[in-house]
Parts: sequence; C-alpha cells; structure tokens
Amino acid sequence: MSLPPPQTILITGASGELGQALALYYAAPDIHLLLQGRQQDKLEDLATRCRLREAKVTVVILELTDIAALQHWVNHSLSLNIPDLVIANAGMNINHGTAQRGEQWAEIDALLDVNIKATFALVNALVPLFRARGQGQLALISSLAAYYGLPVTPSYCASKAAIKVYGEAMRGWLAEDGIQINVVMPGYIDSSMAAAMPGPKPFMISADTAAQRIAQGLAKNHARITFPFPLTLGTWWLMVLPASWSQLILKTLHYGG
Ligand SMILES: NC(=O)c1ccc[n+]([C@@H]2O[C@H](COP(=O)([O-])OP(=O)(O)OC[C@H]3O[C@@H](n4cnc5c(N)ncnc54)[C@H](OP(=O)(O)O)[C@@H]3O)[C@@H](O)[C@H]2O)c1
Repeated sequence: MSLPPPQTILITGASGELGQALALYYAAPDIHLLLQGRQQDKLEDLATRCRLREAKVTVVILELTDIAALQHWVNHSLSLNIPDLVIANAGMNINHGTAQRGEQWAEIDALLDVNIKATFALVNALVPLFRARGQGQLALISSLAAYYGLPVTPSYCASKAAIKVYGEAMRGWLAEDGIQINVVMPGYIDSSMAAAMPGPKPFMISADTAAQRIAQGLAKNHARITFPFPLTLGTWWLMVLPASWSQLILKTLHYGG
C-alpha cells in the first residue's frame, strides 16, 4: 500500500549526515520541514539549502535528552502543526575504545538517554496527537546492528535492538488508528559516526543513497526498511545461527570478541 506524500516532516538529528540527506531529499515546494538539532549554524546552513529547493523550513534547537523540554515542545508547539511524518533519526554511537578498555559508564548513560529514552519519549508524546487526528507516520531509525550484538559496540547494538522491538510493537498497536510506524535498519552509512566506529564496514553506502532507500520504504509503508541486501542477509544469519557460530564468524571477520 502506498501512502500519500507527506507535507509536513519532522527530522530529528537533522545536523548529522543522514539527517541532512533526508532533509534535502524531501525538500521541495509545498513541503514544510521541521529540522531539529542542537547546532544552530549547521541547521541554518541546511535550511538555506532546503529553501533553495523551495521548501518551507523551521529550525528547532532542542536538546532531546531534556525530556521535559521535549514533551513541552511537542505539546505546545508541535501540536499546533502536527507533522504527517516524523523521522526519529538522532542518535549516537560509542565503542569499547582503544586496547578494548571497555565502554565507560558516562558514555553508556549518554547513549541510552538519546538513543532510547529520547526516542521513546518523542513517540510517546506524539502518539496522542496522531491518534486524535487519526493519521501520522513515525520512522524509527534503528540499525542492522540490532539483529546481533557486535562485540565492538555492545551498548549501541542493544539500544538499536530496543528501538527495533519498540517500533514493531507500536506498529501492531497503532495500525488500526491510521498510524504507520516503520523501523529503519540501515547498514553502514558514510558519516562521521561510521568513521569513528572500529572494525570493517562492508557495503558502506552514501547518506544520499540511504535517504533515498528510507524514503522509498516509508512511501510504501514497509514495516522494516533494511539495506543493503548483502549485509541484511549477513546480519540476519548472525541472529538465527547458533550463538557460538555467530561469535566465531564475527571474530574471523575482525569485529572483536
Ligand atoms: N552512520 C551509520 O553507519 C549508521 C548506520 C545505521 C544507523 N545509523 C543511525 O542513523 C542515525 C543518524 O546517524 P548519522 O550517521 O547521520 O550520525 P551523525 O552524523 O553523528 O548524526 C547524529 C545526529 O544525532 C544528533 N544527536 C546526537 N545526540 C543528540 C542529543 N543528545 N540531542 C539532540 N540531538 C542529538 C546529532 O546532533 P548534534 O549535531 O547536535 O550532535 C546529529 O544530528 C543515528 O540514529 C544512527 O544510529 C547510522
């Protein structure tokens, strides 16, 4: 089933590589983009580029991990102009560091706050607005790393698995209210986040290609949007194989463990 094209679109983490590519993909006449982030200069520059494509743009400077501020913004600002599509894209990654020192608690805490709590809080605040209107689409950016925990990035993989499972559950609950929830599971996207991650990055794609794949999947309301295919298949096998086999495969492929 194809959905009507969204007209008002909120993208969180719009200052990042994928967020920018998504904004530019959707930027067109009659489209209103709400671009959330924390870096005013970067967002204003992106807004200018989107306006050149004749989109209307609103920049939203917000620290998503301030849950009270997030809820206040959704209830008092967003409720006046409810988006047709919300892409919950903001996120961060950490890894076990040099010489496998292990993840530090302060980093884990920050990651859980943005990847899980802020995303759940955004969805939780939006759902009543979408239900009251009987319409709305929510794309949750997870990762193929949600299929099987990579030894180099334990907390990140766990956080993306939480997003995947939460999105699947919410989709089932809200389908009859006219609300679409889509879980997006990309492989490696060429960005500063990917560059900072140790280990091999096979089948890496550009942020522009990723944005296109995501938008196509969202237009078709696919429950799970996964790409690229070879990495989807590989990570899916890691999930279904006996864990001892998967760990051996990851070790052989230099993902640590
Ligand atoms: N890159 C990959 O290989 C890959 C693969 C699969 C999935 N993903 C997912 O795709 C999404 C975008 O990743 P990316 O590659 O574009 O990374 P990125 O360039 O590092 O962008 C991350 C974005 O999240 C925002 N963010 C981080 N912490 C925040 C906070 N506490 N409050 C508000 N905003 C915050 C950043 O805002 P600031 O600019 O203000 O820091 C930035 O806009 C993430 O959810 C990531 O997990 C990425």
